[in-house]
Parts: sequence; C-alpha cells; structure tokens
Amino acid sequence: MRMPTARSLPEPSPLSSRWGLDPRVCFLNHGSYGACPTDVLEVQTEWRRGMESEPVRFFVERLTPALDAARTDLATLVGCEPCDLVFVPNATTGVAVALTNLRIEPGDEVLVNTHEYLACQNNADAIARSRGATVVRTELPFPIRSADEAADAILSRVTKKTRVCLISHITSPTALILPVDRLVGELQSRGIDVIVDGAHAPGMIEVDITALDPVCYTANCHKWLCAPKGAAFLYVRRDRQEGFRPMVLSNDAVLGRTGRSQFQVDFDYIGTNDYTAALCIPAALRTLRGMVEGGWDAIRAHNRNLALAGRDLVCDRLGVERPAPDDMLGAIATIVLPAHEPGLHERLARRETRNHDALQDALMDRHAIEVPVWSVAGRDQRLVRISAQLYNSIEQYAYLAEALAEELERERSEV
Ligand SMILES: Cc1ncc(COP(=O)(O)O)c(C=O)c1O
Repeated sequence: MRMPTARSLPEPSPLSSRWGLDPRVCFLNHGSYGACPTDVLEVQTEWRRGMESEPVRFFVERLTPALDAARTDLATLVGCEPCDLVFVPNATTGVAVALTNLRIEPGDEVLVNTHEYLACQNNADAIARSRGATVVRTELPFPIRSADEAADAILSRVTKKTRVCLISHITSPTALILPVDRLVGELQSRGIDVIVDGAHAPGMIEVDITALDPVCYTANCHKWLCAPKGAAFLYVRRDRQEGFRPMVLSNDAVLGRTGRSQFQVDFDYIGTNDYTAALCIPAALRTLRGMVEGGWDAIRAHNRNLALAGRDLVCDRLGVERPAPDDMLGAIATIVLPAHEPGLHERLARRETRNHDALQDALMDRHAIEVPVWSVAGRDQRLVRISAQLYNSIEQYAYLAEALAEELERERSEV
C-alpha cells in the first residue's frame, strides 16, 4: 500500500490532537467504528489497572456501582430512566437479543427494510427461520425526497401477520434519519413491537427514548459518544422487562440480587469479561462536552453542518444531485456516484478488493483517504458515505472530492 506523506494531506481540525488517529490518513469514516479520544482511553487504562490489581474486589464490589453510575449519565442523555437500560457490547448484539426475546411465532412476519445494517438483517433472518416466521423486506427509495416517503414505504408492507418491525434510527449505508417517531407510533398502535436500532443516534442527533416509547431501543456508545469499543446499550420498556433475558445466563440468573430487577441482574454480569468500555461512558461524555462550548447541542450542530458542507463539495465536484433532503441528515451523508455507461458497474464489481468496492482501496492506496464505498443490496448504485466528527476539517472533504473525480476518471479509462 502506497501512502502519501502527511505533508501532502489536508490538515484535520485542531481538535484532532485529542484523538490518536494516524496523521498519515485522511480519516472520513467515524461512522463505522467510532474513534475514542486519548483522554478517555487513559481513563479506561485506569479502570483496567483497578480490575487487574484486585480482580475479586473489582468484580464483586466495584463493578455494579460503576455500571450504575455510567447508566445514570447515559440515561440522562438518551431520555429514559436508568433502570430501563442495560449494557451490551454492541448494537448488533442489542438487536439480536431483542429479536430473540420478542414473541415471533410460526406464520408471523418480521418487517425490515433494505437499508438496515446487514448483521441485523442476518439476525432477523436466522431468528425468523428458527421460529417458522418470515422476514418481509421493504425496499426504501434512494435517492429519497422526504421522511414520509420512507415511512409510507414501510407502512405499506404491514399485514395482519406483522409481529415485529426493526427500524434504524439512522441507516448505515444511506445515512438517513428515518421518521422513527411516526413509525413507532403507527406500528405499535397496530400491536406490532418495534425495535429501534439507534446504532448511530446518541451523540449525532437528540434522542428521547421516553417520548419515542418503543418496546426496545439499542444503540452504540462507541460511535458518536466516542466511548471505547464495546460500549453499547439496550433499553427495554418496563412492561416488557419481565422474562426478557440475555442469550447467556450467569450465576445470578436464578438467585437474583436483592433490590435489583432481574433484567439488570441478568445483563450486568454475563461471565468474566472486560466491562471497562461501558464504565468509560461518563468520561467520554465529559471529554466530548469539554471540547466545544455549548456541549452536546453544539457538537451535534457542528458535525451536521460539516457533513452537509462536505456532501455539497463532493456532489458539486462530481456533478451529482444531493440524494436526500437536509432534514434527513446528521453527521453522516451518503452520495450516489455518477452512473457510467451500461455494463461498467458489472465490470467494476469483478475487480479484486479488500473492501466492498475497489474504489475504496484506490482512495486509500493513492490518496490515503479512509472512506467507505458500498451499495445497497439489489440496487445498481455505488455509494460513498462521509462522516464528520470534531477532528475533521472542511479541507478534507475538498480533498476527497478531487480524489474521487480523479479515480472515477481513471476507472473510465482503465476498466
Ligand atoms: C444501523 C447500524 N446498526 C448496527 C450497527 C452495528 O454496530 P456494531 O458493529 O457496533 O454492533 C451499525 C454499524 O455501523 C449500524 O450502522
């Protein structure tokens, strides 16, 4: 892999000094895995030191109160009661556990859409199959004109057999904020349980789970809250917590613990593991808030404005339309690459790649840009998704726009 020297890359924002990102890479993919500031990683090191210096005291005495403290801070941010939140390692697990616990019986339908994250669709397929149920996939339009267009498409696939609906708060491949408030209300009023996959939502947009009132809501803290990897949560509405269990049961599953719900007892300790990512959520919230005057509102607005400006630069340089209205976007934005002559996509798809599309390899190998290039299954489109976090600068998107123009021209002549 050939990497340009750091000097030839555009400067990230001055706040990038708070992260340990490789300065030889123009990093425009916060969305996939998040990135954790170095101060927060130091807090995690401290927790790990404590755990390893006296493991028994850590697991028996310190872990539960520390999880409670993290839960309280997080619940305030996402608008729910701490007792309704448990920690899970990631949103994929949150979705899988939710699907496993909801009533899905032979002949039932589980409603998803084609913009759902693939791992979550895979879990829906596997669980539905194991129950004799079927998965119904709504095709969402992209480009899209309005949030109502998405809601109407999903609601049009509801039948008498629909039992559960899985909806991303913000879609992964297309970066759309879906109208979950309207959808949760309309679906649940018809007796359909809704799981909201909010993987990207906390830290990117305002989240108020109590107002939304879904049966389940899961999200990552390692993406836009910048906690260490492995920090995520699952909310389960109080009336559905009884009998709601993790896939693996621990020592306390039968005995319980006085003063705590079985729901929390079950999820708070699932065997020996490194729980320190969740314990760092308060430090992550504090650290990010401390970087920008105005706290989370200011962070969310800053990142969204940067993503929209970056999208505009790329769309204008490539001469393509903006594929979604601004009110459906937060700190990530997906751009549809210009369509080539018929047959070229097929030829391009046959190229060897470390990723989904060899264009992504070329952007890294020739320009040191980390940005995903992918597509939605069944659609003949190539998509680039940009992310904007406090460490990014507008110059980085201008650099991407030029690199994309150059690589698309190269593809036309070479492939
Ligand atoms: C909508 C959505 N759901 C789930 C996930 C999976 O997140 P994780 O790998 O942390 O489980 C992602 C990851 O990007 C996502 O975008």
